[in-house]
Amino acid sequence: MTLLLTACASAPAKTILLGEHAVVYGRPALAAPVSGRRARAIVSPAEPGHGITIYARDLDRCYPGAGGCVDGDGQFLQAALRIGLCALGCPSEDLDLSIEIRSEIPVARGLGSGAAVSAALMRALACSMKMEIDPALLSSLVYETEKLLHGSPSGIDNTTVAYERPVWFRPGESPEVIEVGAPVTLLIGDTGVPSRTRESVAMVRARRECDPATTDACFDAIGCLVARARAALEQGDLPLLGSLMIENHAILASLGVSSGDLDRLVSEAMAAGALGAKLSGGGMGGCMVALAQPGRTEGIIQALLKGGAVQVIRSHIGGTGQQTSGASQVQGGQHA
Ligand code: PMV
Repeated sequence: MTLLLTACASAPAKTILLGEHAVVYGRPALAAPVSGRRARAIVSPAEPGHGITIYARDLDRCYPGAGGCVDGDGQFLQAALRIGLCALGCPSEDLDLSIEIRSEIPVARGLGSGAAVSAALMRALACSMKMEIDPALLSSLVYETEKLLHGSPSGIDNTTVAYERPVWFRPGESPEVIEVGAPVTLLIGDTGVPSRTRESVAMVRARRECDPATTDACFDAIGCLVARARAALEQGDLPLLGSLMIENHAILASLGVSSGDLDRLVSEAMAAGALGAKLSGGGMGGCMVALAQPGRTEGIIQALLKGGAVQVIRSHIGGTGQQTSGASQVQGGQHA
C-alpha cells in the first residue's frame, strides 16, 4: 500500500554555455538552468480501478500509464513514469493515478525539454509518495529517459536540469556546481528551426572518423575554452566569458553544426553590444545564447527579433530572480 498525495513539481530548461559536442568525447562543458522556462507535473490519486493516465496538456493528448504506446511522445512519458516508479519501489499495476504534464519549454530547441519533463514527473511522483529524490539520483534516472531520445547522450542535460545550478560537467566524473562571481543575464534566441541533435552528433562523429586529428584538435580547443570560461564565470569576468563564447561558436561552426540562422543571430547580438554569443545545444537549428552587457539587454533582444528570432528567452544566473525546483504536496491523498 502506497500513500499517494496530490503533488506538483517542476524542472527548468537548460542552456549550454560552452562545450557542446566536445563533451560527447570526454571534454568538459558548462551549462546552466534557464530561469524563465519550466516543465511541470501534477500527480493526483484517481478513482480505484482507473489505472494511470498521463495528460500531456500542451500536446492535447492523453496516454495510458502502462506501456505499449506507439506515439513517440507517449512512449517517452510512459518510459519516464516506469523508470521513476521502479526507482521509488512502486509497481505501476497497483496504482490509480492521474498525471498532468505542462511545459513552457520549446521542444527540439536544445533547451532540454525532454529532460525537464521527466525530471518534473519523477519529482512529483516522489513527492506524492513523501519520498526524497536527491539530484544525483534524479539525474541518473532522467539520463535513462534521455537515452531513449538521443541514443547516447553525454549526460549534460539531465545533470543541469536535476541539479538546477550552473554546472561543470565532464562525462564519467561527478558534476561540480559553479558559484558565479557576478550576476549573468543570458538572452536565448530561438531560430524557430528544430535542432536535430541526433543528426548533428552523427555528423560530428562522421567528421571525426574521416579526420580524427583535426576533429580531436577542435575538441581539445573547446575543452581549453571551457576551463577558462569556468574561471571567468567564477571570477565574474563577463567580458572574458563573452569572448570565449565567441571563440567556441567559431569552432562549432568549423565543425559544421551551426546554420545561417544561428550565425546571423550571433552577429546581430554582437552588433547590438552582447559580450559574447554562440549556438547552444546540438545546433543545426535550435537556439543561440547571448551574454548580455548591463544596459544593453533591450537592444540585444530587439536585434535578435529583427534578425529573425521567433522568441527571445531571458535567463539569469546568480543574483535575484532564480527559481527553484520546489516540489510540493497540494492536498491530502488516499491509499492506492
Ligand atoms: O540536447 P541538446 O540539443 O541540448 O544538445 C546536447 C549537447 C550535445 O553535446 C550536442 C550532445 C550531448 O549529448 O552532450
